[in-house]
Amino acid sequence: MTTTSTPAPTESRPQAHSVTAMTEYVLPQHANAFGSVFGGQIMAWVDLCAAICAQRHSGKPCVTAFVDDLKFQQPVRVGEVVRLQAKVSAVFRTSMEIDVEVTGEDATTGRTWPCVHARVTFVALDSSRAPTPIPALTLDSPETVQSQREGEERRARRLVTG
Ligand SMILES: CC(C)(COP(=O)(O)OP(=O)(O)OC[C@H]1O[C@@H](n2cnc3c(N)ncnc32)[C@H](O)[C@@H]1OP(=O)(O)O)[C@@H](O)C(=O)NCCC(=O)NCCS
Repeated sequence: MTTTSTPAPTESRPQAHSVTAMTEYVLPQHANAFGSVFGGQIMAWVDLCAAICAQRHSGKPCVTAFVDDLKFQQPVRVGEVVRLQAKVSAVFRTSMEIDVEVTGEDATTGRTWPCVHARVTFVALDSSRAPTPIPALTLDSPETVQSQREGEERRARRLVTG
């Protein structure tokens, strides 16, 4: 598939426009033999949460192109809660990098702990399913400027190895 020559949209969108939160309650059907959430289930929730974020930012249907930096830190057990938050960390021409933080929560005590951190790259598609340009990320804070710069560095490495 070849990227079209359609120009990039002139407007940009702030990170806050597409921040996406999801909450899941861990049931026995989500669990592995140890009674904690199966890694593939967490990955599916990460992909869904990030996909919603990508579609909110781009205003287009998006497909997952690359998953990197997916690190399992601590488990979440049956009866506990999985909280996901996705935000756009960098935007390129037709693709964007989404950062997803996954947190475990004991809803009875309010205790929380880091579960997973992931970065997922999505590509926006037009009605012919070809990659299509998307709005830039509004660089309205030092944090967003740094996030975009670091994302561009990661993208360069990803395209060499990926
Ligand atoms: C992702 C996909 C659309 C890219 O198609 P392509 O023909 O390689 O498109 P292009 O070469 O024109 O690249 C389009 C964009 O994808 C990016 N891209 C392509 N491969 C990539 C990879 N491995 N990692 C990160 N970005 C990638 C390119 O950098 C480019 O981004 P940019 O325009 O922001 O610079 C295509 O490979 C695809 O459909 N893959 C399957 C997606 C899928 O089924 N996902 C799971 C279900 S959602």
